[in-house]
Amino acid sequence: VARYEGVSPSVIRRLPRYYRFLEDLQKKDVHRISSRELSQLMNLTASQIRQDLNCFGGFGQQGYGYNVDALLGEIGNILGLHKGYKVILIGAGNLGLAIAKHMSFETKGFNLIGIFDKQKELIGMPVRHLVISDVNRLENFCKTFSPQVAILCIPREEAPELADRLVNYGIKGFWNFSHYDLAMDYQDIAVENVHLGDSLMTLCYEISEILE
Ligand code: NAI
Repeated sequence: VARYEGVSPSVIRRLPRYYRFLEDLQKKDVHRISSRELSQLMNLTASQIRQDLNCFGGFGQQGYGYNVDALLGEIGNILGLHKGYKVILIGAGNLGLAIAKHMSFETKGFNLIGIFDKQKELIGMPVRHLVISDVNRLENFCKTFSPQVAILCIPREEAPELADRLVNYGIKGFWNFSHYDLAMDYQDIAVENVHLGDSLMTLCYEISEILE
């Protein structure tokens, strides 16, 4: 059962952005902000912000605005950023390694506990606090450590079969970079398909409006 039933996915999708802005404010030692200031900063209307945050009971106070620390804590709780879900990464090529090395999993609700590849030359290579393991050991690893989430950085054609195996091993969520659209295949499995190219194509449209 969803914890915040009835809250639209588009509101949930906006929460990380609120979180990011509030985190910046907190780093600058700002502890209180009016809804007007926050809305200007984020290029939203004050009523949009109120509507979004009211879905969770609303955290603002009339005449006071928002308490940055409290709101940051609340949004962090809603997103579950303290959960430290166990995540594994499959495919330690260019993209997989960049993600494994540079993503701050701990601040985003996750704990990277394993990296896997099928290429013999990569196995045993250290990456951060881990070493790359043979993908043949995936089943045993999952039985022993019960990761909940998998990051797929493998080619598209490898994705469907591997994802099926991972679901059988108990994986409940995918951060999927493989360009294979996993969302269609499963119920009760969380899937975030990431296509950096979508953002690039959007930029292409926007820049063509400026240049032409
Ligand atoms: P890469 O060829 O450098 O790395 C792929 C790695 O996956 C290799 O190390 C390979 O040995 C491993 N691999 C392949 N099949 C496997 C399997 N069944 N089990 C375990 N490991 C396996 O490729 P790169 O550049 O890292 O890209 C990976 C994929 O991500 C590509 O398919 C690419 O199209 C896609 N991609 C997606 C982006 C996105 O925005 N979603 C952005 C960039 C790349």
